[in-house]
Amino acid sequence: MKGVILGGGLGTRLYPLTHVTNKHLLPIYNKPMVFYPIKTLVDAGVTEILIVTSGPHVGHFLGTLKNGKELGVTHLEYAYQEKPNGGIADALALAEDFADGDSIAVILGDNTTDATIKDAVDNFKDGSVVFLKEVPDPKRFGVAVFDKNDSTKITRIDEKPKEPESNMAVTGLYIYDNQVFDYIRQCDPDFAGRGELEITQVNNFYIEKGKLTWQELKGFWSDAGTFKSLHAASSYWASKDNG
Ligand code: DAU
Repeated sequence: MKGVILGGGLGTRLYPLTHVTNKHLLPIYNKPMVFYPIKTLVDAGVTEILIVTSGPHVGHFLGTLKNGKELGVTHLEYAYQEKPNGGIADALALAEDFADGDSIAVILGDNTTDATIKDAVDNFKDGSVVFLKEVPDPKRFGVAVFDKNDSTKITRIDEKPKEPESNMAVTGLYIYDNQVFDYIRQCDPDFAGRGELEITQVNNFYIEKGKLTWQELKGFWSDAGTFKSLHAASSYWASKDNG
């Protein structure tokens, strides 16, 4: 399995910090943000990684990560997303050549977790796996809607619903088979009303085909795309003193 980290977007919610550098290179406690998703992949045995990025500070990635060796990456590639806010699925589309028919573990570059996804990676066969986490503020996320008769099944994922039907957020960690690229081609930029190709629509295509399973992330998880969540993630990793 190969790994993809999505580090595009403009990080406008973190202005003026993101005038200085790309959001995913801002510090979370003592490391640049993108080091965390890289570690999650490397710890799961996924060491061939593509980073998709965009915006005015893309060059900073190369200077920071170099060839990735120091972080345990055996093969590091970069891709440039032309439309920086084209959406998560638009960014992921750029990984098709890199995936080369293989399945992929995908992590949003602003997500940090100390949970392991190694078992899911080792046991993955086909379809998709999403990782969920219970949150107090589900309106900020993709939210899982469960089958009323069988809570192991997700019937739908709503993107930032006004009235969430559960408090289980879909985190920015996903595993997909190579079918994902066909589903991305079917995405509609009006799906969630923000002109972006949404990963939530991709996940709903998998659900319609009965090919999406889920697991709960065991441990800490947070995104870091707002000042509040950036601060919360930094505080957590400082308290854990990740050395
Ligand atoms: O953090 C989990 C949430 O991430 C999920 O619950 C949502 O379903 C999912 O849509 C996403 O929501 P956000 O609104 O928080 O996503 P955001 O636009 O902040 O993008 C998250 C990361 O994805 C960002 O750090 C880099 C990458 N990205 C995003 C966009 C819009 C790209 O690489 N390219 C893009 O065009």
